Amino acid sequence: QAKRLADYQAPDFTITDVELWFELEPATTLLTARYQLKSQRKGATELVLDGQQLELLSVKLNGQQLTPAQYQVTDDHLRIDQMPAQAELELQVRLNPAANTALEGLYLSDSAFCTQCEAEGFRRICYYLDRPDVMARFTTHIIANQQRYPALLSNGNKVAEQQLPDGRVQVSWVDPFPKPCYLFALVAGDFDCLTGQYVTQSGRTVSLEFYVDKGNAARAEFALEALKRAMCWDEQTYGLEYDLDSYMVVAVDFFNMGAMENKGLNVFNSKYVLADQQSATDTDLYNIESIIGHEYFHNWTGNRVTCRDWFQLSLKEGLTVFRDQQFSADMASATLSRIDAVKTIRTHQFAEDAGPMAHPIRPAQVLEMNNFYTVTVYDKGAEVIRMLHTLLGAAGFRQGMDLYFARHDGQAVTCDDFVSAMQDANGRDLSLFRRWYSQSGTPELTVQSSFDAEQQQFKLVFSQHTAATADQQDKRNLLLPVRIELLAKNEKQQHLLVVSEEQQSFSFAVAEPPVAVILADFSAPVRLHYPQSVSQLLTVVQHASDGVARWDAMQQLWSDLVRQAVRSSEPLQVPAEVVALYRALLATPEGDLAFLAELLTPPSFDLLAEQYQPVPVDALLQALQQIRRQLADELAADWLNCYQQLIPAPYAYRQEQVAARALRALCLDYLAQSGQQAELLLQAYQSADNLTDQLAVLKACRNATHPLFETLTAQFEQRWREDVLVLDKWFALKASLPTKDTVYLLPHLTQHPQFSWQNPNRVRAVYMAFAQQNPTIFHAADGKGYQVLQQVVLKLDPINPQLAARLVTPLLSWRRFETHRAAQLKAVLSQMLAQQGLSNDLYEKLSKSLSD
Ligand code: ARG
Ligand code: ZN
Repeated sequence: QAKRLADYQAPDFTITDVELWFELEPATTLLTARYQLKSQRKGATELVLDGQQLELLSVKLNGQQLTPAQYQVTDDHLRIDQMPAQAELELQVRLNPAANTALEGLYLSDSAFCTQCEAEGFRRICYYLDRPDVMARFTTHIIANQQRYPALLSNGNKVAEQQLPDGRVQVSWVDPFPKPCYLFALVAGDFDCLTGQYVTQSGRTVSLEFYVDKGNAARAEFALEALKRAMCWDEQTYGLEYDLDSYMVVAVDFFNMGAMENKGLNVFNSKYVLADQQSATDTDLYNIESIIGHEYFHNWTGNRVTCRDWFQLSLKEGLTVFRDQQFSADMASATLSRIDAVKTIRTHQFAEDAGPMAHPIRPAQVLEMNNFYTVTVYDKGAEVIRMLHTLLGAAGFRQGMDLYFARHDGQAVTCDDFVSAMQDANGRDLSLFRRWYSQSGTPELTVQSSFDAEQQQFKLVFSQHTAATADQQDKRNLLLPVRIELLAKNEKQQHLLVVSEEQQSFSFAVAEPPVAVILADFSAPVRLHYPQSVSQLLTVVQHASDGVARWDAMQQLWSDLVRQAVRSSEPLQVPAEVVALYRALLATPEGDLAFLAELLTPPSFDLLAEQYQPVPVDALLQALQQIRRQLADELAADWLNCYQQLIPAPYAYRQEQVAARALRALCLDYLAQSGQQAELLLQAYQSADNLTDQLAVLKACRNATHPLFETLTAQFEQRWREDVLVLDKWFALKASLPTKDTVYLLPHLTQHPQFSWQNPNRVRAVYMAFAQQNPTIFHAADGKGYQVLQQVVLKLDPINPQLAARLVTPLLSWRRFETHRAAQLKAVLSQMLAQQGLSNDLYEKLSKSLSD
């Protein structure tokens, strides 16, 4: 029952106006919904509305009550056969938000009502044409007990509030912008509210309101300021201004993802709103700013211009991720945010391409839409937008954006429409470029270089090839913007090459053989094969103009060393030049210290694993351990010296400080590795005036399985027991300790009074950390790690299918492991697939993983 992009048809009917009356009670909420319907196809008489898990009480057509014989109700639909071309339809349904643990539709987060409708959640609120190309004006009336629910919120502007005779209150909202129902939101609860103001560039005053748990208003201040920065940035960068009188953000504890851009009323996972120096790390603050930006930017890229159908999800997500990346680059460190994005692609996105769920950024078929909120659609989607930006330049890209809004404001459109706007605004033929939208997989770009001394010419030969993926056999050549830099003694040359053929060469006039930097700034999301010697790589590390390229060369160097060690089964020996480079850099830490910390961090297990088929798990873990030990031992004095030079100032979230903390954390990590330095670690923990520094100590102790880990984590748990967002960090630390006992500890963690299977943040804190940050134990040879995750996924599926389907991901790519582990994984997956009553979410992933 998968849906296909190729089958798209405009709907027979559309809904132009919606009026909703909610009478809120946790277990029995009554909803009356009135729709103005219009035929869009001559002769259409059959209306099929989507609906799930609804109790239908009444159907009225143009004021006339219909008898059950006049409509049909199935598990997924309400069908009316004799629809006039224009009609008013009024439905009444009963809902049970208190029983809704899937956190989709209308549900309770603690005692507050909230909604999540993207992608197809509105059908759990009422029967509707639940598809994004049906755009209606919404009016929402919320009727509730005022003592229990003082805040009654929905999209748009509040237009009325009245006391009802029975003591309840009715609040009415009108959203003047037509929108698809996935952007609908309703929130009711008892919150504290932090307010602010923003005056737009055209002089309109917007009221900014953050609704948070009682007592937490002060913790929303950073998010409020970040929102103001995002509003200002979008005006300056894209000329885009906010369009309603108020912008509301509600922070809830029960939420399946990061946040949701509902028109005028964002709902956020509280983890991405609440933060102060005691309870949040530098990384948390960075993420908050980026997600606040992301949801705000959706107001134009997503809401004003939305998607025609869900296959076009990347239209709004790829573009909005690109915009939030630009924003983060401007607010924090540009190089570091780019490195972050590159790591996401190389680890998770390349892995997705190599696994059973491979799909293009515009998928061609989908069983459960919730399964396609992926790193491919989001992050590779953003890389595709970035390539357009690279090819057209900032000014050309902006012209394309302007044309896109001029053409499509108020419409539901496709990825093709977006590329056409870019193409037309720039007079460029982008037809080959469009292939990025339909072709899945990671292109391999192989480069050979040669120098002709006589001609004084340097030549680069590129060949591109994309291997077949699980979803798609035939692959074709793509258009790749390739930034390069040639480093010679007396000159540096930078070029933007456009590689579009299967094989293509370029020549450059240069007096002596240069060292080449290929794919500077990771200008295309490809896997690069360009063999370079240690000394060439070190030249790039020291001399490339682009920070991303310098970091990348260092990563390449480590990857090469690991590969040699894995091939030869000899212990990995860190070359003397590398030790010397570390020593020199640590001696006088200066410049961008955050970059330095990143430069000195070897690749993660996941990043390395992604480069092998099959993944030699044990050999990789061993090689990484050998690197750690040597860097810790040979540079012990250097780490200590560097650490001592970086004297902490009183905490502030400022870039120089963030950077210094990152480098100190790296030093601590290696200092702990020796198993000693207990005094120094203890002192670092106790003197810290912020969570970033404290966690650095805990992580260092974890990575080194240092004896202090138990003592300090126990203290930490004592201190933060009542503060779940911080306690989640404790759950994650415990679950990621790389010792055998951890697998037995996990069930105990779930017995903690603050743990709840209903709360996705708790579940992720324990089990995502286990599966993603503890490769040693997760991949243990006895298969126990896999079994633990299997049990959790099966337990969660009936509670929260979206969450279950996210958690199963680390098990799916069984084909990528060596025989022994592949067999264990396959067994675990087959057992799951044999279960009765699996959700669509889980079924889609398991069946794809096991099909041949
Ligand atoms: N549109 C939201 C965002 O990226 C995420 C919605 C995710 N929905 C889902 N069903 N997974 O900002
Ligand atoms: Zn988004």
